Amino acid sequence: MAKLVTEWVNVTDDVTIISRESGEVWFHKPNAPGAGVDPFAAPMTGKGSLGSTVGLLDGAINLGFLTIEQNRAKTTSTLPGYAVALISAYHTSVDTPRNLRAAAKRFEELGRPEVAAYLELRAREESGHDRLALKDLQALGLPGKKLVDNYVPEGIRKLCRRFDNLCVEDYPIGSIGFSYCLERTAALKQENDIAVVKAMCPDNIDATRFLRSHSALGSEASHVEETIEFVASLPPSDRVEVVRSTYESALVMAAGYNEVLHKSDAELIEALERAANETLHWPEPRRMEGQGGNARSAA
Ligand SMILES: [Fe+2]
Ligand SMILES: [Fe+2]
Repeated sequence: MAKLVTEWVNVTDDVTIISRESGEVWFHKPNAPGAGVDPFAAPMTGKGSLGSTVGLLDGAINLGFLTIEQNRAKTTSTLPGYAVALISAYHTSVDTPRNLRAAAKRFEELGRPEVAAYLELRAREESGHDRLALKDLQALGLPGKKLVDNYVPEGIRKLCRRFDNLCVEDYPIGSIGFSYCLERTAALKQENDIAVVKAMCPDNIDATRFLRSHSALGSEASHVEETIEFVASLPPSDRVEVVRSTYESALVMAAGYNEVLHKSDAELIEALERAANETLHWPEPRRMEGQGGNARSAA
């Protein structure tokens, strides 16, 4: 019987993520006193597999999000919160095709046409997603263009800056980890999350274009699968860098989203009205009792 693939990546001084093809994942403390020779001290050199690669990538996201565990904001579903989530979604989407194409061009120069082709495909797939968020804002009766032009939540600004920077590095492989982090967390959203938003809006308003396409029901699920397959095919040194970048992106993303979620509706409305330079009028909410979900994180 062929031996199952085991992959590992040391993501911080204290944590190595170890993952098996069978789906087991665990966090290992490198060089623990009295633990003897650490077989995971040196970087991995073997081939990847789908099962072990997804374990590393998702392990990196979970580890990143653990940092806000103590301070995690409660997610409640309100229209101002959803509007800010759409504005955030706009900002995390608007430069994605351009950024991915810059990274693709660099890989072409580096003689890595397979990475360039993957990034080009992703750039095509992501084109126009900013417009979905804008249309959703407009569907809510909000001045979408003025809002996105004049308001970027601070944590989201940091997140966008991180992607801009990763895509222009000399060896921009980290851009893949960033995209994975964003898409994987979006693909966790389910029908219930969409139902929560619909329940907040009158029947004649559809403000869920972005959320639908960036959920388990839309194209995001297949983007995630494509990325896992592609990362698993990369050489070990690239897989290490992608997993580290996924972890670091998850840290910035968790902090950024949490910062928005910690704000009250009054604070959000104030920021939105300042950006729009007008008093905003909201559709009549039709919240249904007992519905949970996380409508705020459209991004
Ligand atoms: Fe997208
Ligand atoms: Fe996507």
